[in-house]
Amino acid sequence: MAELAQTTTAATPEGVAAGSPAIRTVELSKRFGKTVALAGLSMTVPRGEVFGFLGPNGAGKTTSVKLLLGLIAPSSGEGWLLGRPIGDLRTRRKIGYLPELFRYQGWLSAREVLTLHCELAPLPRSSWKDEITSALETVGLADRAGDRVGTFSKGMQQRLGLAVALLGEPELVFLDEPTSALDPVGRHDVREIIRGLASRGTAVFLNSHLLSEVEQVCDRVAVVDHGRVIASGTMDQLLSGTTVKVRATGLDREGKAKMAAFGQLDDEGDQLTFTNLKAERVPDLVAAIIALGGRIYEVAPRQQTLEDRFLQLIQDEEDK
Ligand SMILES: Nc1ncnc2c1ncn2[C@@H]1O[C@H](COP(=O)(O)OP(=O)(O)OP(=O)(O)O)[C@@H](O)[C@H]1O
Ligand SMILES: [Mg+2]
Repeated sequence: MAELAQTTTAATPEGVAAGSPAIRTVELSKRFGKTVALAGLSMTVPRGEVFGFLGPNGAGKTTSVKLLLGLIAPSSGEGWLLGRPIGDLRTRRKIGYLPELFRYQGWLSAREVLTLHCELAPLPRSSWKDEITSALETVGLADRAGDRVGTFSKGMQQRLGLAVALLGEPELVFLDEPTSALDPVGRHDVREIIRGLASRGTAVFLNSHLLSEVEQVCDRVAVVDHGRVIASGTMDQLLSGTTVKVRATGLDREGKAKMAAFGQLDDEGDQLTFTNLKAERVPDLVAAIIALGGRIYEVAPRQQTLEDRFLQLIQDEEDK
């Protein structure tokens, strides 16, 4: 599989903390019995980048995160985080992780959960108080610090999980579906937190199904399906064209066939949808329909969204 864009300093096995990419993998693969969860992931994520990892259920996103964190062993391939081989304990201290499915002990208060993780990290005891106060403030839980986790709503628990991931000023943060339980305000807050992390040089690896959010926050994305990366790049590289919906009558079959020259045409009677059409060609499109005897009732250009592109990619894979 081709390496995903961007090549930066290659990490030596010993690794150098500074200058090396946040993540680098070479043909990282994982099999569970007959299931190929990940089939040769090769990628580089530079420091300070927000990298979105997208894919349908069961595509291999969580497996990738667990492999990168050293929580499960690869079947083959290798990888480095912050210049050191996967699983290196020195690196783990510089990594934050919000797991996909997590539960903290319901009888602990938010502050106690964070204290426990400061101890596990381990962070210097003198820094705990400031770390915890700052993390609680960042995720908007400062006023619930003394409340038991068991009394928290789903969204509050997710915020707490994010606070845990932020402890110790990590250089690399893995967030596996960080906003699945959050309301729109919470999602907005998380986007701000992610951008804040990136602006201070922290790389963020984000697994998410919420494509409009990914579109707003990620510098680069990869789309994975059945364990293989099927597309990757910046939002500009991935989202090329515009979709134009036209409602027109009076075009016969021959006329519609001619219109297909303007882009991929989906013909549903009066409703014609052109994909991958450059916006500047819309006036020519309208003129051509009129020249062919068509009567136009509506023309609606729409910039392709990441969701459109995602659905198209997955459909193309299924059609193969
Ligand atoms: N411990 C395991 N044992 C067996 N199969 C597993 C295990 N973990 C994951 N798999 C399989 O690997 C594949 C990828 O799973 P993974 O959890 O990585 O998907 P995902 O992309 O995170 O999906 P989702 O969007 O649902 O979270 C699936 O087919 C899954 O059943
Ligand atoms: Mg998952």
